[in-house]
Amino acid sequence: MNVFKPEKLFGIIGYPLGHSMSPLLHNWGFAQKDINAVYMAWPTAPEKIADFMNAFKTLPISGASVTIPHKISVMDYIDELTIRAKGVGAVNTLYWEQDKLIGDNTDTAGCSEPLRPHCDHVKNALLLGAGGASRAAIVGLKSLQIKEISITNRTKSKADDLAEEFGISSLDWKKRGDEHYDLIINSTSLGMSGDKQELNPMIMDNVDKKTIAYDLIYNPLETIFLKEAKAKGCKTLSGIEMFLHQGLAQFKIWTGLDLDELRARELLLEHL
Ligand code: ATR
Repeated sequence: MNVFKPEKLFGIIGYPLGHSMSPLLHNWGFAQKDINAVYMAWPTAPEKIADFMNAFKTLPISGASVTIPHKISVMDYIDELTIRAKGVGAVNTLYWEQDKLIGDNTDTAGCSEPLRPHCDHVKNALLLGAGGASRAAIVGLKSLQIKEISITNRTKSKADDLAEEFGISSLDWKKRGDEHYDLIINSTSLGMSGDKQELNPMIMDNVDKKTIAYDLIYNPLETIFLKEAKAKGCKTLSGIEMFLHQGLAQFKIWTGLDLDELRARELLLEHL
């Protein structure tokens, strides 16, 4: 009998983790690259994060993904933050450099990489929402050298705070449909499956075929925002792109290797 003895252990820390596709992506990646490693799901309730992280540091774990609700609290337990993680103020990737536990952030690349091939004509962008995903989106947009970035949020004070911190403009939530934007990113929870599924976060008055509509939600794959944007001729990008690219960037950090993007996307779409 062949007994599988993984040499390296990785996993995801979050709560709850029922629907996470990270184990699927990374275990597939290890198999693709003949790496003797396994990636597990470690659901960790908020009150258990201190115990978990203290144990993590003593166990032979090579790295981890970090997701909601631990992206900020995990920073208390790591030795060093990368510039990217400092810039965003949140961590989604852990790895070791000798005996130092490093906290990095690949959500920024996750947000910006899908836009890179389309962003030559993008002069102005509007970010809807000022919650957990918005900080990474702002840093991602800035990395694409987009000149005018505006943020709007139902609770204006949160948009104002981020606008001040990152040097972008804040817009009244009611005015979000008043002007044309080359790029609109949804980082609110409006459109997510459940009781918000039928809610479009954008007022679609000035949306046209020159607009790129990017929803960070991937469940459902085509939100009402993307559906209506498509009907107006927009280029659309779904949240699966952000998920895919943040995962590919994590895999590269841990292994130094690039996975096949097309095949990885197919894998995720098959399992959604
Ligand atoms: P997170 O943990 O990422 O902050 P969240 O609290 O569900 O997640 O909120 C995500 C974003 O969706 C926030 O920008 C939130 O706006 P508020 O800051 O005003 O709460 C936005 N959001 C959630 N429900 C909304 C609704 N019904 N209308 C408009 N925005 C909404």
